[in-house]
Amino acid sequence: MSGRVAGKVCVVTGGAMGLGEADARLLAREGGTVIIADIADDKGKALAQEIGADYVHLDVTTEAAWIDFIAHVKETYGKLNVLVNNAGIVIPANVETCTEEQWRKVNAVSSDATFFGMKHAIPLMRESGEPCSIINMSSIAGIVGVPYVFAYAAAKGAVRLMSKAAAVHCAKKGDKIRVNSIHPGGIVTPMTQAVGQQVADAVAQDPRNTAPVRGTRPGEPDDIAWMVVYLASDESKYTNGAEMIIDNTVTAMEGIVP
Ligand SMILES: NC(=O)c1ccc[n+]([C@@H]2O[C@H](COP(=O)([O-])OP(=O)(O)OC[C@H]3O[C@@H](n4cnc5c(N)ncnc54)[C@H](O)[C@@H]3O)[C@@H](O)[C@H]2O)c1
Repeated sequence: MSGRVAGKVCVVTGGAMGLGEADARLLAREGGTVIIADIADDKGKALAQEIGADYVHLDVTTEAAWIDFIAHVKETYGKLNVLVNNAGIVIPANVETCTEEQWRKVNAVSSDATFFGMKHAIPLMRESGEPCSIINMSSIAGIVGVPYVFAYAAAKGAVRLMSKAAAVHCAKKGDKIRVNSIHPGGIVTPMTQAVGQQVADAVAQDPRNTAPVRGTRPGEPDDIAWMVVYLASDESKYTNGAEMIIDNTVTAMEGIVP
């Protein structure tokens, strides 16, 4: 099948690399008009050029930047159908070692930004009257307690439930706007390559972990991006307020502390 998101204007935050890059590539391949929003300008511009997308510098942590960005989308494209709130950062630290600065930084990029993005996208989505979809990137750390990335776990838990609250809000208003969260685990990206060893070391030192931590093969960005395409398309019209876990059994496995 092709053209699964044809005619849809799609924004992907953090779309310059990693999972966001895969989302941008597949949405463009499936006929979407894609806008990559990131702070990694060189990578983002190069990708946009390659796939025929637009690139806009957006630091997702400030509401003012979101207001300008959504105004730009409205002015340039006249509508917005799909918002993938994908940007995120992780800093390894547990509940006792996490500093105030680390807490605020991690929560700003995942939790605050997802709120700002939904708040300012929803009115523009509503205006078109077309079917729209907001896809918020949470994590398996938003499903089970992952002690090694405490601030990240808090942020991703917030993303999970703010997605459901926004989904119900839109449904009760009669909007054609669906909101879902995706919960990846163990996908190889620049993020997991950067902090993977630190987290693996912390896991190995934890005496509670007697079983192998990851009993499954690592995933690829497209394993997540195909779910993004499904949720972005009208194929998923009855999927709303849902949490899509994509971790190849990690959270399903008994006795595992991810
Ligand atoms: N890779 C995994 O296994 C995994 C697992 C669970 C959840 N996630 C989530 O998926 C999303 C993407 O993760 P990834 O592994 O591709 O990470 P990544 O670090 O490879 O890419 C993240 C992207 O976000 C951008 N970004 C960071 N701060 C930003 C800001 N303030 N404003 C705009 N853009 C910003 C980066 O420039 C980068 O392009 C994140 O929300 C992450 O928490 C990833």
